[in-house]
Amino acid sequence: RKRLGVLVSGRGSNLQALIDASKDENYPAEVVVVISNNPSAYAIERAKRENIPVFVIRREDYKSKKEYEEKIKEVLQNFKVDLVVLAGYMKIVGKTLLEAFPNRIINIHPSLLPSFPGLEAQRQAWEYGVKISGCTVHFVDEGIDSGPIIGQRAVPVYDDDTPATLAERILQEEHKLIVESVKKILTEDFEIIGRRVVFKKRG
Ligand code: GAR
Repeated sequence: RKRLGVLVSGRGSNLQALIDASKDENYPAEVVVVISNNPSAYAIERAKRENIPVFVIRREDYKSKKEYEEKIKEVLQNFKVDLVVLAGYMKIVGKTLLEAFPNRIINIHPSLLPSFPGLEAQRQAWEYGVKISGCTVHFVDEGIDSGPIIGQRAVPVYDDDTPATLAERILQEEHKLIVESVKKILTEDFEIIGRRVVFKKRG
């Protein structure tokens, strides 16, 4: 099975979705290490509960972004991860990690990109008044929520939604999307042509 390193900053429900999926031995990947930049992230408890090694690496403890990311890189390489998943990781990924894992870092974002990149995407969509929103899994590049799109799932926005009820509806789809996207890129052949992730049918 392929080895996942998951970066988190908070609740960790997408991390949990991956852990739960990997309990099926036919799932092609397992979470081998979790890294949190936030010492009070609930995701840390989830990893511990599952006996998955978890490291707290705080940006504030390093002089530069480069040194901070060198530490993360060292841990990911020690655990021989095949794919890095950003699951509610609330920092911008820099050159050090991007160069260490080219096209091997993916992120889940709670909107239909390219609409509503950045923070509080669900609130942005709700305020804008869109009638459909959703979530996106994409490769991470040097921009903010800007890399090639691997998969998306849509949800309706209802007139009586609040940012919180919309976020909850999107989250349910995120859990499915992260699990299916990780499986897809680890088991199917694809090419990145311009911005497009093109999966090749086999046989
Ligand atoms: C998720 O909604 C994820 O899409 C979002 O944070 C939440 C984390 O939830 N990520 C971003 O906004 C990234 N900029 P979780 O910790 O329960 O997985």
